[in-house]
Amino acid sequence: MERKEFTRRRKRLMDIMNIGSIAILPASQVRSRNNDVEYPYRPDSDFYYLTGFPEPEAVAVMIPDRQHGEFILFCREKDPEMETWHGRRAGLEKAIEYYDADDAFPIADIDEILPGLIENKDRVFYNMGTDPEFDQRVQGWVNQVRGKARTGVTAPEEFISLGHALHELRLFKSRGEIKAMRRAAKISAKAHARAMKQCRPGMKEYQIEAELLHEFMKQGCRSPAYPSIVGGGANGCILHYTENSDALNDGDLLLIDAGAEHDYYASDITRTFPINGVFSKEQKILYEIVLKAQEAAIEKVQPGNYWNDPHDAAIRELTMGLKEIGILKGRLPTLIKNEAYKRFYMHRTGHWLGMDVHDVGDYKVDGEWRMLEPGMVLTVEPGLYITEQSRGVAKKWWNTGIRIEDDVLVTKTGHDILSKDAPKTVAEIEAIMNSNEKTSN
Ligand code: GLY
Ligand code: MN
Ligand code: MN
Repeated sequence: MERKEFTRRRKRLMDIMNIGSIAILPASQVRSRNNDVEYPYRPDSDFYYLTGFPEPEAVAVMIPDRQHGEFILFCREKDPEMETWHGRRAGLEKAIEYYDADDAFPIADIDEILPGLIENKDRVFYNMGTDPEFDQRVQGWVNQVRGKARTGVTAPEEFISLGHALHELRLFKSRGEIKAMRRAAKISAKAHARAMKQCRPGMKEYQIEAELLHEFMKQGCRSPAYPSIVGGGANGCILHYTENSDALNDGDLLLIDAGAEHDYYASDITRTFPINGVFSKEQKILYEIVLKAQEAAIEKVQPGNYWNDPHDAAIRELTMGLKEIGILKGRLPTLIKNEAYKRFYMHRTGHWLGMDVHDVGDYKVDGEWRMLEPGMVLTVEPGLYITEQSRGVAKKWWNTGIRIEDDVLVTKTGHDILSKDAPKTVAEIEAIMNSNEKTSN
């Protein structure tokens, strides 16, 4: 992302905050995995969205119209010995030079400096509840200012959720963000194609996972956006299956839900295909029902339509399909009204997508489903899950988990499927699985 994009974001937030406000945003903490080993560090999305600063132990402060500069960054100082052990740090100079802070202070001095910045402000924009320890410190700083009332200093009376203002900004993607998301989706689509090419009966689910990660990393995406789901046969019916430890059986389907994170932006793609490269008659019938539902739902992704329109279109097609093959019986409107499909389709058809895989942004406004607008990105992911426990369903349909998921951008005139490169139709999938073309390393 270009540096000026972060400046633009801070400016937009500060326009909303207005004069008399201060925003305080800590970077997320490093988490311990076990003795002396930490989880790979990934900054909190809100913090990174506004700063582009990738280090822990930092606090961003924004004060609209502050004479000495509006953006203040508290961060770690340069320390050659620590850097020898743990890696490079930007330090105070680079915080200003490279990350465009107007002022930078050592994080160790925050208790001395921050109360002074809070003095005479009316309100604090802050995300309460994500870091209880930091909540207490913020409260402590405000109390410290309150304690100086007799000197004529005033303390803020109001706490406002920073997330609420910020998440509305994050919901609408800029050109730079769309570019990053398109790249994440392209790389992920390639990884799905690679998995299709490499898949053979007898392989383990984690070996397919390795193919996905190989493709992500080779293209510069060091991490998936979420743990990959690679589930063969009945495992495809476990919505958040991540054990990925079983063998892949001839005759079963394989459901893969996997997406790379590129430059802090997620992709989220699901494809389902036959492990042996050819759909059985029953698998094809169910697959075509889900595909039709997905296409109908994507068609509803249009500016001016409502959030729930794609979901309504998907459940209509799924219910019609299940009725046609005799799994559901009754009148279509009654089946839809009674949610008869829910036994086989228990999740919703999508979610916002962005820096977080389940991205921020309200789905309802004043109690009503939100209208879709250009710049929003959402997933469209209907599925059908039929297990041995699906009572009253003929055995030939059992252990079939199918989901098809794409990442869709709302445009001025309709939509753009960012993940369109991932093979999707029965013909496309069978063709790629049975071609002799070798996967490049
Ligand atoms: N991969 C998580 C989801 O599809 O929502
Ligand atoms: Mn997914
Ligand atoms: Mn999803």
